[in-house]
Amino acid sequence: VAPLAASLAKLGPPGELASALLTKLAGGGAASRGPEIPQAVGSLRAVSGQAFFIPLYDLFLIYGGIFRLNFGPKSFLIVSDPAIAKHILRDNSKAYSKGILAEILEFVMGTGLIPADGEIWRVRRRAIVPAMHQKYVTAMIGLFGEASDRLCKKLDKAASDGEDVEMESLFSRLTLDVIGKAVFNYDFDSLSYDNGIVEAVYVTLREAEMRSTSPIPTWEIPIWKDISPRQKKVNEALALINKTLDELIATCKRLVEEEDLQFHEEYMNEQDPSILHFLLASGDDVSSKQLRDDLMTMLIAGHETSAAVLTWTFYLLSKYPNVMAKLQDEVDTVLGDRLPTIEDVKKLKYTTRVINESLRLYPQPPVLIRRSIEEDMLGGYPIGRGEDIFISVWNLHRCPKHWDDADVFNPERWPLDGPNPNEINQNFSYLPFGGGPRKCVGDMFATFETVVATAMLVRRFDFQMAPAAPPIEAWTTARLNLQQGFQLAKNVSTDPVVDAWSDATMGEKTCILREMILL
Ligand code: HEM
Repeated sequence: VAPLAASLAKLGPPGELASALLTKLAGGGAASRGPEIPQAVGSLRAVSGQAFFIPLYDLFLIYGGIFRLNFGPKSFLIVSDPAIAKHILRDNSKAYSKGILAEILEFVMGTGLIPADGEIWRVRRRAIVPAMHQKYVTAMIGLFGEASDRLCKKLDKAASDGEDVEMESLFSRLTLDVIGKAVFNYDFDSLSYDNGIVEAVYVTLREAEMRSTSPIPTWEIPIWKDISPRQKKVNEALALINKTLDELIATCKRLVEEEDLQFHEEYMNEQDPSILHFLLASGDDVSSKQLRDDLMTMLIAGHETSAAVLTWTFYLLSKYPNVMAKLQDEVDTVLGDRLPTIEDVKKLKYTTRVINESLRLYPQPPVLIRRSIEEDMLGGYPIGRGEDIFISVWNLHRCPKHWDDADVFNPERWPLDGPNPNEINQNFSYLPFGGGPRKCVGDMFATFETVVATAMLVRRFDFQMAPAAPPIEAWTTARLNLQQGFQLAKNVSTDPVVDAWSDATMGEKTCILREMILL
């Protein structure tokens, strides 16, 4: 039954009859063994035509913390309850795999850390986590500062040329440059220019995104998958990335053989502090293919997530000038005009709260995907094996019972002298980096990266949406981005210190840029 269900499911939604038939064939699921999970009615219509996690919020208010959503033959359990999320992610995590996510990402991540399950995951996680030790993360602060400085210079130039700037793609380039150096010591330099490898990375990312939203897996259709121009392009892009990674691995191996450093817990090569260098120096006994899968996984995991966090943060700052003013005060006091150090970053407490709060309102990704591999009880309901589950982080982060003024961007909701909010101290009502054994390995890295970039940008610029800007809409399932980008335009400044700016033509959906006093 399972292969049949999988094949039918891939054909798309054939209707409720097939759905009912499949449920019967599969033994009636778990419903026959106990109370039935509430089923969302009219759900197919409700979620079509927009980012699917947004209507799931209304369904959550109607059906509660766990309900079933039928999508033709596909059926998903939607979880928005912190106790159930904790059970799946932490307390009984061994009963769940990555399911659909692993299937979708296999072409690009292979058995890398995100899609991997079971023994492969255990071995690779044990090898990779130690690479991101305290000394490594501290060294990365310098890298974040230098890359953010290059972005500031680019914005300076755009501003003096009077050009509109699309911030989403710039943040994407910033975080690509950072993650390339941090993971395998490769300088994409995508903020300066486009080259073949940068384009190859984007072709691959867009493909992953398309596969995660497409109802029909055209990329699996025999013959078509070999002749489709799109697939040809994807295969070429992957071949180029693999070749580049193989070369980087070979070069790094040579360097490790030649170097005179003793390996220890906080081992780091100052010239090349990358994760790849650590793994090779640690004597990590792994095939080149697995190493490539891991590097590719971290490249993707650490790139667009951070870029999306920055984009949404600046969108929020543009809407909340009081938060922006307070943020700029803190940055002026703590940073002055130097590049941030680790000590500075620890003092940027309000900036950190801004990122915490931005991640609450716009979590990346908005849903966590799992599949049950054993029978289990969720919220008092028995569930069978093979259930596809979406844990809606979006719903958890906006639950009106848990959060006061849940839709309001309010970094003050967490006191500055309190602990940084995380899934433990918020009891799984807040899980921007997931929780349990599969929690993000880059949480500290990503927090520091986004804090440094935000601080350095607001130190020099002010961001506001232009009055004529159309509403921003969220879309896609893989990550949360802005439907039409987020643009920054030349300034109409009211700041008396800044007179270099003149009235500018406002492009569609633009922001206003203001040079800050510090420069
Ligand atoms: C896993 C979020 C940055 C590497 C995760 C998960 C989340 C997440 C929610 C859990 C996924 C799940 O349970 O299904 C984020 C966010 C980031 C970010 C919001 C940026 C703001 C990074 C960075 C790296 C990274 C910079 C690497 C340097 C990973 C890896 C996993 C992961 C390897 C899989 C861990 C495992 O399954 O054992 N991330 N991440 N992430 N993240 Fe991140």
